[in-house]
Amino acid sequence: MKGVALFGVPGAGKGTQSQLLIKKYDYIYIATGDMLRKEIKEQTPLGKVADEVISKGELLGDDIIIKMIAKRLDNHTEGTFLFDGFPRTIAQAHALEQLLIDRGGELMLFIKLELSLEESMTRLLHRAKTSGRSDDNRKIIELRFKEYQHKTAPVSDYFKEKGLYHSVKGLGTVDAVFGELCTIIDNR
Ligand code: AP5
Ligand code: MG
Repeated sequence: MKGVALFGVPGAGKGTQSQLLIKKYDYIYIATGDMLRKEIKEQTPLGKVADEVISKGELLGDDIIIKMIAKRLDNHTEGTFLFDGFPRTIAQAHALEQLLIDRGGELMLFIKLELSLEESMTRLLHRAKTSGRSDDNRKIIELRFKEYQHKTAPVSDYFKEKGLYHSVKGLGTVDAVFGELCTIIDNR
């Protein structure tokens, strides 16, 4: 059981690239944001909490997220997981490593999509016209960026120290970014 984590600021292109990666490499896709939005749609107890937190641009508590991931991992006995939007805190980074070790696996790659906040904001405001996401508006996007800078950005340093860190320029066509990601994955 192996893992690849795709990382980056809100709007960096994680979801877009994930769709291409899961097709090419047959990864098992775990996107915490998508999982939470499904809970919201189904109006589950977790969905009610998620709705409130997401619409404020904040992160959910680590315990909730880690439990959700553990449950998903236990649906599989083998394969490679692609994580989109997880881990997002140092506590989640520790948990991910441990969850994979406990299942006889390991994190293989941690790849950051590099994009400026200006470009991310432009992309997200454009997406806001059609996404219907409660967190796609300028005020909340700015709060998401703040959460990212305080809690999430340190995660990349953590994986740099572990020697798992790679980065790709997120600016460019979807295909060009995908090509760079494939090069990193194929060289691993
Ligand atoms: P989540 O759903 O993970 O959102 P996010 O990280 O803020 O990022 P986005 O999904 O907005 O952007 P993306 O990087 O996927 O970019 P995309 O491909 O869509 O999380 C939402 C919330 O859930 C969090 O704020 C938090 O509350 C909660 N949450 C989730 N995970 C959590 C966790 N682990 N812990 C705690 N809380 C958690 O692209 C963006 C736009 O750009 C699209 O319109 C796309 O078409 C366009 N685009 C993509 N690539 C290109 C390109 N190359 N050129 C031009 N446009 C492009
Ligand atoms: Mg996404």
